[in-house]
Amino acid sequence: MAKILCVSNQKGGVGKTTTTNALAMGLRHLGRRVLCIDFDPQGDLSFSLRADNRLEMQNSIYHALKGELLTVQTIQHTPLCDVIPSNMLLSGIEMEFTGKGREYLLRSCLRPVLNLYDNILIDSPPGLGILTINAFTAAHAVLMPVLPDIFSLQGLVQLNGTLDEVRKKSNPDLKAAGVVLTHYVARQNASKIIREAARDIAGNLGIPLLDTTVRHSNVLTNAQIHREDIIKFAPRNNAVQDYRKLVDELIAREVL
Ligand SMILES: Nc1ncnc2c1ncn2[C@@H]1O[C@H](COP(=O)(O)OP(=O)(O)OP(=O)(O)O)[C@@H](O)[C@H]1O
Ligand SMILES: [Mg+2]
Repeated sequence: MAKILCVSNQKGGVGKTTTTNALAMGLRHLGRRVLCIDFDPQGDLSFSLRADNRLEMQNSIYHALKGELLTVQTIQHTPLCDVIPSNMLLSGIEMEFTGKGREYLLRSCLRPVLNLYDNILIDSPPGLGILTINAFTAAHAVLMPVLPDIFSLQGLVQLNGTLDEVRKKSNPDLKAAGVVLTHYVARQNASKIIREAARDIAGNLGIPLLDTTVRHSNVLTNAQIHREDIIKFAPRNNAVQDYRKLVDELIAREVL
């Protein structure tokens, strides 16, 4: 049965999509059967994994959530990965589902495909609205990419609050997979101080600070713009190596 990991942070541009993409590529290189769910109406993961997410297409995660198609009918098999894509239609879910039980939509959708994969990765949108609540309700664990600055770290308090709410209401077994610092520039003195602050803040919330940090590298952006597998695109790049290490660490922590 697939392990489901959600990559989340309410702040924008912290590396959620890049992390989801890189974990998927790392797991695929280990021979794992991986399904990526693009759960962000921006559709960035769909783009970088070469999925078709044009507005007129009829087989996105939105159509699965609405029950218009079986989940398996919405899976696209791209040269990079299996993906259920998303586009702006997904933002309609907030308005279209207002009743009781709306936090279980994604969990119900994933149930029929759990046996087809080893890992399911969910890329979530910025914000802590109903889409994020659905992703947390469906997942076994949440990975939190964070920028190495103090305001980003302080945002973890709110993020952890949402995890706690979901544990109380719809997913008691939800684990915090850990905090991973991204865009890291190791040679800056401030980075060391930030790492210590991250350890304190995450530690106080009971969330592990992961040993792996992901260094800053424009190669990650370029690989995604060109819709390439980041590992094949630049196997020796520092940030790519970091992501491979992150895969190993998350496997050792039993969340992948
Ligand atoms: N380690 C890194 N080094 C350099 N650039 C990075 C790194 N990680 C991500 N980026 C780039 O930073 C930008 C934001 O990253 P990404 O899209 O993954 O963030 P996000 O959290 O998914 O954003 P959003 O909240 O909008 O969904 C992208 O252009 C991405 O290529
Ligand atoms: Mg994103």
